[in-house]
Formats: sequence, C-alpha cells, structure tokens
Amino acid sequence: MTKYTVPRGTRDILPEEVALWQFVEQKAREIFDLYNFREIRTPIFEHTELFLRGIGENTDIISKEMYSFQDRKGRSLTLRPEGTASVARAYLEAGRGQREPLSKLWYQGPMFRYERPQAGRYRQFHQMGCEVLGATSAYQDTEVIVLAQHFFESIGLKDLEVHINSVGCPTCRPVIKERLKSFLGDNLDSLCADCRKRFEANPLRILDCKNPQCNEFFVMLPDISDVLCAECKEHYHDVQNYLNIMRLKYKIKPRLVRGLDYYTKTVFEIISAHLGAQNAVCGGGRYDNLIKELGGTPSPAVGFAFGLERAVLIMQNQKVSVREHRPYLLLAPLGENAGNRAAILANKLRRRNIPLEIDISSRSLSAKLKTADRLGVRYAYILGEDELVDKCGQLKDMQGGSQKKISFEKILEEIENRYQKYRRENK
Ligand code: HAM
Repeated sequence: MTKYTVPRGTRDILPEEVALWQFVEQKAREIFDLYNFREIRTPIFEHTELFLRGIGENTDIISKEMYSFQDRKGRSLTLRPEGTASVARAYLEAGRGQREPLSKLWYQGPMFRYERPQAGRYRQFHQMGCEVLGATSAYQDTEVIVLAQHFFESIGLKDLEVHINSVGCPTCRPVIKERLKSFLGDNLDSLCADCRKRFEANPLRILDCKNPQCNEFFVMLPDISDVLCAECKEHYHDVQNYLNIMRLKYKIKPRLVRGLDYYTKTVFEIISAHLGAQNAVCGGGRYDNLIKELGGTPSPAVGFAFGLERAVLIMQNQKVSVREHRPYLLLAPLGENAGNRAAILANKLRRRNIPLEIDISSRSLSAKLKTADRLGVRYAYILGEDELVDKCGQLKDMQGGSQKKISFEKILEEIENRYQKYRRENK
C-alpha cells in the first residue's frame, strides 16, 4: 500500500503544538495593536514579476527557491516567498499613499521557499510581519526593532541578540561594491564556488557566506560602514541614537547584509542562542526604493518579519509552556435514557458558553472518569439511569474527588457560576 507523508520541507502542526502557535499569534496581535499597526491580508500567490522586480533577480530566493507555475491562461504565478513585496503592491494598488502619510500594516501567513530543509528551515513556513510605509524618520527603523524585541520578550524568549548594520543606498552602494570587489578580486581563489558566482552578480552577498574557509578569509575584509554616503551615515547614527535612548541593547555587525535586494540603509536581525544553525528568528530593514521599483511615487519604508516555526522552536527549547484550551466539564451519562438527557444538557450549557465534552459511549463509569482525567476537565457530571428518576446527577470534582448531587434544573446555573468564578481567577 502507498504510504502518504507530508511533502519534504513541510510539516503538520498537531493540536499539542497549536496551543503554542495560538499563544504566539495572540501575543503578536496584542503588541501590534500597542504600536498601532493594522492587519492586511494579501493573496498567497502573486504574479511572478512582482517578486522578480521586488526581491531582486540575483538573490537566492529568486534564482533557486521560488515555487512558480503557469495558470491555465499561461500566466506565470508564484507562491509568495515573503510578505513585503505583496504588502507594497497592495499599498500601491489601493492608493493608500495618497490617503495616509504613514501606513502601519501587519500580516501573517504561510510563505514558500524551495530551500534545503533542516532544523528551523522549511519549504512552507509561517511569518508574521510589520511594514511601515511612508516612513522617513530613523525613529521608524528603531520602532520596528523595539517592537520585535518587545514581542519576543512577551512570549518569554531569552538570550536574544539584536544585530544591526547599514547597507547604504543607490548613491553609496556602488562605492561599497567596488571597495569589496577590489579587495576580493585578488583573492578569488580563496573563496567558495558560491562566492565566486556572487562576485559579479551580487558582491555584497559574499559577506553573508557561512562557509568556514571564506569566513577565515573575511576577517581581513574592509569595513563598509566608512564608505557610506553622508545621508546614510547620518541615518545610521540616528537609528543608533534612538536605540540608545530607548535602552535597547544591540550589536553592530558590519557583515550583516540579508538575502533580499530591496534593502537600503538599516538592516537588522534578531538572533537566538537556542536555534542552532538557522539562528535568525526575525529579520528586517529599510527599503526606500521598493515602492518606486514597483511603479509608485517614491515612498520610504521599513519593516520586519519573524518566523513562527523558529519562535515556537525557541519556546520549546526553553521549555516555555502555555495553558492549552481545555473543556471545563465532562458529561458522563450511563445508559440510553441518560444519554438523551445529557445531550439536551450539553446543548443548553454550550449555549451558555461552557466548554464541555460529552462521553456518549456505552463504556463503564470508571472508563468515563478516566476520559475526564485525560481531558483535564474540572468537573464530571454523572447521569446514571437511577438518578433519572429523581431528575438528578452527581457533580464530581475532578481535583478534590468530592461528589455532590445536583438536580438537572439547578445544574445549568451551578456550572455557569462555577465557570465564571474559574474564569475570573484564571485570567
Ligand atoms: P527573511 O529574513 O527572509 O526576511 O525572513 C524573516 C524570517 O522568516 C527569518 O528570520 C526566519 O525566522 C523566517 N524564515 C525565513 N525563511 C525561512 C524558512 N525557510 N523556514 C523557516 N523560517 C524561515 C523577509 O522575509 C523580509 N520580508 C522581512 C522584512 C519585512 N523586511 C522588511 N520588511
């Protein structure tokens, strides 16, 4: 028989883990609200051209990682590898730039990259991200970095490092590239095959190579920050200044360049000591030319995205646990008549917003109480055939073990009161 498995690089998120995901998503929404971001939802696939133009043809994402296909009319479409290009397109298409000076948008959803799968790296993965469009001030760069760090703290992540750099703008980038090329040109033989390829097409990306042999050699690389133009230098200085006054610790990483070509000036990543090789839980930066590249009036912007798989992995590695949603009550009828009564009660209780389960099976009472234990309910309400006669059931406290006779008439109110008290105490 054929065995069906998930496609390589994808995974199922089973209910036990979903509790962590929901916690992360909920916290992120709360933090996004605090910073006045509004949600935007864009399609999962876009015209391939958007990503070619937006992300840059010489990046790994475009040259080897896209899930592209032709639709029935022969149009080339691509499953989104990231969210920024789509948000920029939607912002332009909706003419938001004319309506509001600053658009602060957040998004979430699956992204697709044909990468070599490993721990924390998937072909379908999930991001939540923020974009500030119309963001001229260096304050905005800082705000998204502070927001990201604030969020990670709120979900209990520890041992994070914020890394920042400036990759310059179209004025100084050619100078940076030339500086790098003139240094690397004499030493091309010391570099790996990937770096040799990048030398012509995208020399900045060489800085990001993880090959140990290249890394040994990179110690001698010139620092690119001293060739930034005056405007980029000032911006970089202002970002650091804001970070300092907001007391956010960061490290300057002159070799941080990121894998997408739209970045200008600030780039940043947040790195975790609990992730292994794929240690960036979040990445972002400024992209002042993307909107113009996509045909709009120039509009500076800055943003970031974090990977949910990685955030959850850190929580698991750090043993951060969250309370999973549980039913409050198990209805345990014994026999057919009791089952009918329990069905009626279940219906009424659920309409009073009491989360419950009903064990309608013909199993014994002790088996049903085991189910109550497994579900972690606070109470079981046992309806035996005998008790039907005097229209009563037994409410069993699954923590203390005590049992109390309560009539069908009173049970609705009794459970509702207890549940409300429990909710107040466990907020
Ligand atoms: P990125 O660095 O490519 O940036 O991705 C952001 C985050 O998504 C990474 O730090 C990582 O946590 C997660 N991630 C990326 N690829 C994978 C993968 N294959 N498997 C699991 N997780 C992954 C961007 O996507 C930019 N759009 C961020 C941005 C927003 N820049 C400005 N605005």
